[in-house]
Amino acid sequence: MKFIHITDLHLVPPGDVLWGLSPNDRLDACLADLAAHHGDAAFCAITGDLAERGETAAYEALKRKLSAFPVETHLMLGNHDDRANFRKVFGGEGFVQSAIGRDGAHFLFLDTLKGPPSSAGLYDAPRRDWLARQLAQTNGAPAYLFMHHPPFDIGHALMDMIKLDDAEAFAGLLAGHDIRHIFFGHAHRTISGRWRGIPFSALPGLNHQLPLVSNSVATVYSDEPPMYAVVLMDGDRTVVHSDAFLHRGRAQMTEEAERGTWY
Ligand SMILES: [Fe+2]
Repeated sequence: MKFIHITDLHLVPPGDVLWGLSPNDRLDACLADLAAHHGDAAFCAITGDLAERGETAAYEALKRKLSAFPVETHLMLGNHDDRANFRKVFGGEGFVQSAIGRDGAHFLFLDTLKGPPSSAGLYDAPRRDWLARQLAQTNGAPAYLFMHHPPFDIGHALMDMIKLDDAEAFAGLLAGHDIRHIFFGHAHRTISGRWRGIPFSALPGLNHQLPLVSNSVATVYSDEPPMYAVVLMDGDRTVVHSDAFLHRGRAQMTEEAERGTWY
């Protein structure tokens, strides 16, 4: 089975730019590339920071774009999002959490939005109750988690100040369940590793990135390439590919080299 992970769209009202870039154009390019090459994916998960300032116009743009996207998409919120404005456009009520089952596994999409003035994440008692119920229903089957805020330090001073607040209570919920992977956003970087025995991965955002070394560029954010992830899942195997779809140009190969042994 194949599924897609995208994160941190930071959409602004159509026509506006953010840090000199167009998040709307970038999302359009991302969705077009996915539709062309991965239209067979079982689903797509977008792990929050859907809108830069939580504007209704940004969510309306997202809804329009997704209506033409052929892959079933599950949305989460990040610290830049506004839950009430999101609900105005996408409907429903309460926390933006959902769960699906595919291929004998459970995929759980979590809402870690704490709300202003904090940019950290929160997974409080009502949300933990929901997750506990979902995990109880897995009956030992594998579960994959998707969320905006990582529940641990990633080793970046700016990010570690605004991770998930109540990480110990969150971690306690996962103990004893077969959690195969956590996919998160927020970091605006490609990251992979393991936390409490659970493999994890994160991705660059679609608009701007966070340099690994804060003073390596003159601004807080950088223009490193956006990426989407293609996840291949088969029994005990989980493979996470990341694709810098805007930077996939031709290599400077001669025709002779292309005909011959090129590897
Ligand atoms: Fe973000």
